[in-house]
Amino acid sequence: MKVHNVEMIMSAVRPEQYPEEGYPEFALAGRSNVGKSSFINRMIARKSLARTSSKPGKTQTLNFYKIEEQLFFVDVPGYGYAKVSKTEREAWGHMIQEYLTTREELRAVIQIIDVRHPPTADDRLMYDFLVHYEIPAIIIATKADKIPRGKVNKHLKIVREGLNIRKGDPLILFSSEKATGMEEAWKEIEKRM
Ligand code: GTP
Ligand code: MG
Repeated sequence: MKVHNVEMIMSAVRPEQYPEEGYPEFALAGRSNVGKSSFINRMIARKSLARTSSKPGKTQTLNFYKIEEQLFFVDVPGYGYAKVSKTEREAWGHMIQEYLTTREELRAVIQIIDVRHPPTADDRLMYDFLVHYEIPAIIIATKADKIPRGKVNKHLKIVREGLNIRKGDPLILFSSEKATGMEEAWKEIEKRM
């Protein structure tokens, strides 16, 4: 998809605040600071529409980006950030769980993994949650620009086996820096719209 028209629609923490257009939605999931917002920016070819930061915990609410009057990307706060209180973590859990388990417009979760490292316990929990609720996933192994080309397959295998990826869920090598994997990612999204 060639993207010309993007609107940041709104931030939501409760279902009454979700947008009402009824377009298909694709929600980002991943560790804090893994590159979720950067993924959105790359996909829509905008430098910094989705706020990114070298410090974890930048995204705090569900942020809906309307793309070409056709779909929404939903930027979601990251998990696994140690410096949040128990209360905050519970509020986060509730907000995400409510969205993921009740939202009819949700077509797939785009789970972002750092290709340099094996999936963390939190990554596995997240993916197991999607499997449990039968939510389709697109797995994006990002920061590909940070590993040598010759090691890509080895790293992808570790991600695939670490998450125990279901049949039908694609695993895509990606780099927000270099735009690696962008077309493949769009293809998998468009298939699910
Ligand atoms: P939270 O909103 O805190 O959960 O973080 P996030 O997952 O949205 O991460 P964000 O997109 O803000 O990126 C975190 C940092 O990683 C930033 O410094 C980005 O520039 C960097 N980054 C993201 N993707 C890539 C990539 O593909 N390659 C490289 N080299 N750096 C990346
Ligand atoms: Mg973010």
